[in-house]
Amino acid sequence: MHQFQRTLVTTALPYANGPVHLGHLAGVYLPADIYVRYKRLKGEDVLHIGGSDEHGVPITLTAEKEGIAPQDVVDRYHRMNYDAFTKCGISFDYYGRTTSALHHATAQEFFLEIEKKGIFTQKTEKLFFDRKADRFLSDRYVTGTCPICNNPEANSDQCEQCGTHLSPLELINPKSRLSDATPELRETMHWYFPLGRFQQPLEEYVNSHEGDWRQNVVNYSRTWLRQGLNDRAITRDLSWGIKVPLDTQEAAGKVLYVWFDAVLGYISFTREWAEKMGERDLWKAYWQDPRTRLVHFIGKDNVVFHTLMFPAILMAWNEGRQSECYNLADNVPASEFMNFEGRKFSKSRNYAVYLGEFLEKFPADTLRYTIAMNYPENKDTDFSWQDFQNRTNGELADTLGNFIKRSVDFTNARFGGEVPCDSSPEAWNSLGINWTDTLQQLDVAFEQFHFREATSLGMEIARAANRFLTESEPWKVIKSDREAAASSMALSLNLCYALAVVLYPVIPETSNRIYAMLGFEGSIEDRFTRGVSLTASLLHPVLPKGHKLRAESEILFTKIDDADIAPELRKIEALLVEAQKREAGAEQHRMEFKPVISFDDFLKLDLRVAQVTAAETVKKAGKLLKLQLQVGSVTRQVLAGLARYYSPEEMVGKNVVLVANLAERTIRDEVSEGMILAVEGADGKLFVIEPDGLEINGKQIQ
Ligand code: MF3
Ligand code: ZN
Repeated sequence: MHQFQRTLVTTALPYANGPVHLGHLAGVYLPADIYVRYKRLKGEDVLHIGGSDEHGVPITLTAEKEGIAPQDVVDRYHRMNYDAFTKCGISFDYYGRTTSALHHATAQEFFLEIEKKGIFTQKTEKLFFDRKADRFLSDRYVTGTCPICNNPEANSDQCEQCGTHLSPLELINPKSRLSDATPELRETMHWYFPLGRFQQPLEEYVNSHEGDWRQNVVNYSRTWLRQGLNDRAITRDLSWGIKVPLDTQEAAGKVLYVWFDAVLGYISFTREWAEKMGERDLWKAYWQDPRTRLVHFIGKDNVVFHTLMFPAILMAWNEGRQSECYNLADNVPASEFMNFEGRKFSKSRNYAVYLGEFLEKFPADTLRYTIAMNYPENKDTDFSWQDFQNRTNGELADTLGNFIKRSVDFTNARFGGEVPCDSSPEAWNSLGINWTDTLQQLDVAFEQFHFREATSLGMEIARAANRFLTESEPWKVIKSDREAAASSMALSLNLCYALAVVLYPVIPETSNRIYAMLGFEGSIEDRFTRGVSLTASLLHPVLPKGHKLRAESEILFTKIDDADIAPELRKIEALLVEAQKREAGAEQHRMEFKPVISFDDFLKLDLRVAQVTAAETVKKAGKLLKLQLQVGSVTRQVLAGLARYYSPEEMVGKNVVLVANLAERTIRDEVSEGMILAVEGADGKLFVIEPDGLEINGKQIQ
């Protein structure tokens, strides 16, 4: 184990293609912010780097839809998201953008280094080209009919109806999204990153973190490793992106694949931060000194890009070098998802609460606290308005806020706004709080990314403190025993201070307000980064006799009335009604029959009963089963999109209905000679039609 001297924290770069929502905050940005703020309290050297992912096809699609330039799209959302994060107290040291000149230069430098070492491979392939638009059409730009389920609106990378992963060449009647033209196939050359070349070091890397990485992170990575790592295309025929930095015919019109460039953003933005700090080389310590701990906060959908792709890119850079080698991540705390009122956030369905909009109505710390208490560490969690209201009113207002205000107000009213006496070390550990243990528990919780637990520990202290103040009744006791009341207040005020510190990573703005009420200048963070020790300042009471409070107290949390969240609940209601309508629309669609065909047309179909004699899954086409059918004395091979509903073993021996005179088709290099009939049941599950009983193998159906 290294003795780390500093920590570099990165947060996944959100696409500057839409506003960030509470799900993003819960999975990535809030946990990262809690972590860096805790590190700052400990006086550690920590840097938080984030920014906008501004390339990629979703951005150009949005731009085209709105009739504006991609640059306008990213300008809008970069600003919007950065503002929302700032308002939420997410403390980035630097928030960059992948359209910056330095980022382009950095990504190109990596490309050239790996190219120079001869690590990339190149492959020529046939891709769709839109002659009208004079462009190659990357995946999302081609639609067509799914060869598996006949959905006429399949995307060329995947059919949303049956879930099959497709390649553009498999689509029937392909169409360009840009012009509706039928695209033509053209040869084009692309650069590939041979992930497989790094299979062994990547396995060793992942294995070395068994136990300290979350199980889901190790598992996702291992699933990929077990399947064997393939070459990944890292260039695209697009105009929006980072140009392939070569002056050759082949490189013309090509840009780097967005994921290749985005992960390098972490490096570019650290360089930009260093320039901003006026020390150009300062970034190197954070990336290249092995005593730096690198931590990537991401959502679970980004795991393999951070545990395999990015490390492999860095390994390729490091290969054969003695100096300027990059560190690999020490940890990748990937979150599960936080849902919203029991359903997944969905940008396309507008089923979301956007961070910026939320913060126009409610204060950041109430949100931060609620989300920290629902941090999706190991399983999906849920955000609900009811829970938000309960926690704000109960835990924050009635417990924490109430305790602080009563402590400050009573001291102001009866003890001239000064800490009336020193609090004894015995009293300090008397409320069922053993500060040595508590500090230890807090440290483990924050350092090991158990943010729900860390937050709960803080709230436990608030509960104990609030209970103590209520039970010791200084407002009564003072009439007979001023000294006893004084020592209750001294303890309470010191607990106010401790709570401000302990809860600071989660509710920094509130903590600073408590700190100010207690009569301090500046911010809590300043105090600790200036060298005050966190441990020392919690193991003993800090506020001495005579310490002056600020004259006024303030209300820390405003309670949330039912009326405040009623419009939000109505909005959800409306969204659910919309979802039901969509479902009803789908039902209506089902009841629309296709145009009438003639009897002769029907007679063209040759339907036969066939028996399945063998079945297997198709490699790299997870939804497909390859079936061998016996039709009388003839054997037919059919590829059917049934793998999700039937195992190969279940299929063998079944009698099925075969459309026997359908034109042949090739899918994944396998020939399919016909189709078998199936019906869609409830929830989209397919059932194969099974005539059975008779010896009817090969019989024509009349
Ligand atoms: N933009 C990606 C997403 O929103 C995340 C990119 S993370 C990065 O899923 F590291 F690659 F930038
Ligand atoms: Zn399909």
